[in-house]
Amino acid sequence: MQSSQPVVVQRQRPRGLADAFGMLLIALVAGWLLVAWAIVKRPVLAIPTGVFVGLSVWIGSHDAAGIVIYVVVALGVWRLAHKRSFQRLVGGRSRCWWRRLWVYERRWRSTLVLCGLGKRYRLRESVPRIRRVESSAWRDRVLIRLVAGQCTEDVERVAPELAHSFGAEACRVREHRPGRLWLDFRVRDPLTQVIPAMAVPDTVDLMSVQVGLQEDGEPWRLRVLGTHLLLAGVTESGKSSVLWALLRGLAPAICDGTVVVWALDPKGGMELGPGEALFARFCAEDFEAMADMLDEAVAVMQQRTRRCRKDGVRLHTPTVAEPLILVVIDEVATLTAYQPDRKLRARVEHSIGLLLSQGRGPGVSVLGALQDPRKEVLGNRNLFPTKVALQLDEATQVDMVLGPGARDQGALCDKIPDSLRGVAYVRVEGVREPTRVRSAYVTDQDIRAMAALYAPRAGPGARLAAVMEGRGGDLVMTAEQRREVDEMRAAWRTGGEPS
Ligand SMILES: Nc1ncnc2c1ncn2[C@@H]1O[C@H](COP(=O)(O)OP(=O)(O)OP(=O)(O)O)[C@@H](O)[C@H]1O
Ligand SMILES: [Mg+2]
Repeated sequence: MQSSQPVVVQRQRPRGLADAFGMLLIALVAGWLLVAWAIVKRPVLAIPTGVFVGLSVWIGSHDAAGIVIYVVVALGVWRLAHKRSFQRLVGGRSRCWWRRLWVYERRWRSTLVLCGLGKRYRLRESVPRIRRVESSAWRDRVLIRLVAGQCTEDVERVAPELAHSFGAEACRVREHRPGRLWLDFRVRDPLTQVIPAMAVPDTVDLMSVQVGLQEDGEPWRLRVLGTHLLLAGVTESGKSSVLWALLRGLAPAICDGTVVVWALDPKGGMELGPGEALFARFCAEDFEAMADMLDEAVAVMQQRTRRCRKDGVRLHTPTVAEPLILVVIDEVATLTAYQPDRKLRARVEHSIGLLLSQGRGPGVSVLGALQDPRKEVLGNRNLFPTKVALQLDEATQVDMVLGPGARDQGALCDKIPDSLRGVAYVRVEGVREPTRVRSAYVTDQDIRAMAALYAPRAGPGARLAAVMEGRGGDLVMTAEQRREVDEMRAAWRTGGEPS
């Protein structure tokens, strides 16, 4: 059916010259007001502004604007051609300035007063002052100076409010020195994506093995020599993935024999079984044998301690003859709290206690995984210098694992969502604040490949055999390792013996 109503076409009234002129004037005034405000806040901005005004007076505003446009284009080309040097010399600094000026200083005083961080003395209300701002793609770090009468806990208490107010995902407080704190604002989370297994390193630094990423996008590294490591988290939180990521980082040292792994898997070999070839000793079913193995670790430790004392050595240097012994216990509770045999339980607890209290110096480290962090399960959990807390059931468990005050310092393990398996908070001895991290995810296929290629003293021949038989799988290798395997493969094809 056709409508008989006439169609009214609304014509847009052409904007008059006066309108356009008015808009231009408003934009100009607003622009200069913004510049004036920026100069008041950051007087150093007076320099580029002064240069531009000077140029305009000297060669005319038209040419001055032209120069500015050329400079902007040149910077753009630089960024496209060599992003790293641009970021280091220009991009990073401008970002810090911009974030400081626009995000923080613009509403600093009002926000801090509303968050309860203002202190009134007589007629003046003071708030902590910004000393420095550092900014990266993932986080902003704001160094502040506290007002007299304030302490770290005052700021920690309002950290969530600060995060919301400045549009960040989270805010963590770190002590810098007395009276100075860093506020770490997470602006983007680099841990939302699964991190694939890392390339196996060529050489292993036992003081710093990469196992994943930190929330600032930097590598997450764990010390293995001279420490013990506790992993705690509910079932399926990703404890095994941390464990395997660490073993992967240690693979070359396991292969050349400077690290030996004694693995106890009381869950019947489900977790550690696929990598059995990597372990010097492996026990999965017989609890008596597990207790024996722990006793032997204690005996080795005591022997070495005596030798170290005689030689005046405080920290053992692992060698092939005297390697670092890493005792891996996948579910400690099965050997302690859930162990019906009381005598066996007492033996295991005694050995674990001795290893934890004396094993660091002589090179016998313990890596223990726990689902339930209560004291009845592992009374000695405070003896682990490095603690990793993955997803936990209750807020109260966070401090049980990481130590007092950890949750107030932002370790929200009970709030880690199911979608972020492998995300954890780590507290290392000597560092007050926990760090948020995510371990790389080592798949079963990666584990099998690792076991085939890095079994102790496997050597290049065995490595090649594994690759040729397809057991190497899709193992991520460094360029150097890939070249080595390719060379071996070529030699194999031409009938030569692999070296
Ligand atoms: N780092 C990770 N990144 C992504 N997904 C992960 C990661 N770690 C674990 N997962 C996922 O979570 C599942 C359980 O992980 P894992 O076996 O490591 O947990 P767990 O804490 O050892 O569990 P359990 O206590 O039952 O042994 C894995 O099958 C995998 O799908
Ligand atoms: Mg597990």
